[in-house]
Amino acid sequence: MAFLNHSKVPVHRFDALIIGAGGAGLKAALQLANADLKVAVISKVFPTRSHTVAAQGGVNAALANVNDDNWHWHMFDTVKGSDYLGDQDAIEYMCRAAPQVVYELEHSGVPFSRLKNGKIYQRKFGGQSQNFGGGQAARTCAAADRTGHAILQTLYQQNLRKQTHFFTEYFAVDLFRNKSGQVLGALAFCIETGERIIIDARTTLLATGGVGQLFKTCTNALINTGDGIAMAMRAGIPAQDMEFFQFHPTGIAGKGMLISEAVRGEGGILINSEGERFMERYAPSAKDLASRDVVSRAVATEIQEGRGCGENKDHVWLNLDNVDPETVKKRLPGIRDLCLTFLGIDPAEEAIPVTPTAHYTMGGIPSNRHGQVIMPTQNHAESIVLGLYAAGECACVSVHGANRLGGNSLLDILVFGRAAANSMIEYLSENPYHKTIDAELIDQAIARLDRWDKPNNNVNRSINANDQEEPVYQNDNVALLRDELRKIMEDHCSVFRNESVLQEGIDKLEQLFKRINTVALHDHSKIFNTARVEALELENLAECAMATIVSALHRHESRGAHTRMDYPDRDDKNYLKHSLYFSSTDQPEYKAVKTQPITVDTFPPKERVY
Ligand code: FUM
Repeated sequence: MAFLNHSKVPVHRFDALIIGAGGAGLKAALQLANADLKVAVISKVFPTRSHTVAAQGGVNAALANVNDDNWHWHMFDTVKGSDYLGDQDAIEYMCRAAPQVVYELEHSGVPFSRLKNGKIYQRKFGGQSQNFGGGQAARTCAAADRTGHAILQTLYQQNLRKQTHFFTEYFAVDLFRNKSGQVLGALAFCIETGERIIIDARTTLLATGGVGQLFKTCTNALINTGDGIAMAMRAGIPAQDMEFFQFHPTGIAGKGMLISEAVRGEGGILINSEGERFMERYAPSAKDLASRDVVSRAVATEIQEGRGCGENKDHVWLNLDNVDPETVKKRLPGIRDLCLTFLGIDPAEEAIPVTPTAHYTMGGIPSNRHGQVIMPTQNHAESIVLGLYAAGECACVSVHGANRLGGNSLLDILVFGRAAANSMIEYLSENPYHKTIDAELIDQAIARLDRWDKPNNNVNRSINANDQEEPVYQNDNVALLRDELRKIMEDHCSVFRNESVLQEGIDKLEQLFKRINTVALHDHSKIFNTARVEALELENLAECAMATIVSALHRHESRGAHTRMDYPDRDDKNYLKHSLYFSSTDQPEYKAVKTQPITVDTFPPKERVY
């Protein structure tokens, strides 16, 4: 350990720094540790509590254990599922790599469920087809309905074996990106003691997960606050395709816990207040196993048009009458536990009340299929951000485009966690020496922390840029502002959107930004330990909220999960492109979709029917 004289903050040196200990971070860490590199992982929770643990249904790979299958059909489904906004080179790469990463997991100890013949069990999931849009495929490899849990435990144990260094319950504040654009590590602090540390790393991977906490009701853990996306934005990197936020069709109504698509994969069906299996109208062929955006819109429409169930007509039923109770116990034990615990019902006997619930961030840090973070340059060219990589939900590769298929997120974290590690290994061999971190960068990151840490007794009023006094909201605090932010996003940027509702949401968010600043200056009564983390998370959430809602306002079409009531059609002529939101401007830029795969023909945009 060393000290930088001017800051007295201890410095820890590693070859690679990984921020986030979910599946992407741990897969990358393992790959790097296997190459005998010195790896640090920073995690704000105990690693096996990272959100990957909550993934239920499984991981997609065309193993063909149950039905005929191949990676090219998987690729077609993913491109179609993305509403043609996914980059086809990355999608081909992911679908081809899928069987291999699943076998790697199997060999490192993941206890997959088994078929009678001993092969890995695969279930049906939404948007999966055989033969380019034909019959239903069964492509999702499952460990009962606790697949993420099984994967995360295994990867953590393998990392311990390889002596990956964990900074557990540390919070990463900001990246060090020097004037030439190279990333050289990050500032972090220990949540319990507040002790600050500098990680001086030759390469850094952001693997911090998504930003589901933007919405009041979500399937996401409290930790999913978009930290990596916001950190990248503060380092001058745009956020890509943030308007595409996935609403899972089946969260527990009013509570948000995920009821896995696996329930429909095992035969569960959705029913409205008239007892109708309404998905037959919206997706005559795939029905309940249509793509998620289609099913979520259908459920929301049923509720809006008065066919919702229950006293408040605010949900639909997910009914498992057709499913053998033994299958429920064997294949869906976690779902059964959730229903018994939070609803007091056994899903084998009673229907589950469900509504569309915020679930997954399709957008994120622009990156390519090698996990490298990319920046737009003049003339629509791209450059690599040296030393910086992103993988998993915080990254936008983009393999999910405007709508992710269920089972492709566990696949994404494994394939691109591994790919990022491979390119980091190459970069490390070409960049063998640590470089000096600019003192100014360290000071800036420390100043961000000090804003919340050190009471500024000279400030008893807030002055805006025009030297006018801002109102001080005496009762504001971090928790209250976070609740308000989540309500603004739920009310103004949900399944159905339009210009005036989005604009009103932006106006409210602008006010909220001012109030966050005021609280940062005034409220230091309880800002330590986890409250300090919540304050920094609130800033991260606010930056991601603005990126999401501004990008949604400017996309004048409906595509995938982004449904504009005032622009109901997809507009390939003007919007078959990725948005890029820079926090320094108030409207996004755009860049082309990569429609050219690596070895096969392009899947050109078509009308999407299921
Ligand atoms: O429904 C689910 O089990 C969720 C899976 C996913 O988001 O990939």
